[in-house]
Amino acid sequence: MDLRDLYQEVIVDHNRSPRNFRRIDAPTKSLEGFNPLCGDRLTVYLTVNDGTISDVAFEGSGCAISVASASLMTEALKGKPIAEADRLFAQVHGLLTGATDAAPEGKLAVLGGVREYPSRIKCATLAWHTLTGALHGADRPVSTE
Ligand code: FES
Repeated sequence: MDLRDLYQEVIVDHNRSPRNFRRIDAPTKSLEGFNPLCGDRLTVYLTVNDGTISDVAFEGSGCAISVASASLMTEALKGKPIAEADRLFAQVHGLLTGATDAAPEGKLAVLGGVREYPSRIKCATLAWHTLTGALHGADRPVSTE
């Protein structure tokens, strides 16, 4: 299966049944992110214990790519230290913006397929910018613009 097929399959699957699509009632950290160009917005919730992400979830409404990217992100982050989340953010962001070709390991690599659709790159980075803002204490919603 080539990357394009895998991309389609994973994005469709994670959009149709997003993982960790729920609110966390008393999160350690949470933040809203939005894309003013389309109006899509999502909220990322995190429970962090001793520097490790013990739970992460999201809710909101967005296009297939923004939802699938958020879903993949939550799957990849659960149980990881914050430093690892920062590393994954840098890898995914680098991959999406073309700064690097080094794909993150596992399913996150399919996000590289978004590069074929430049107008959708911000859809894919929305959840990740929101995550980083939440982890590092941003005090207002993150915008992709
Ligand atoms: Fe709005 Fe993708 S079209 S985030």
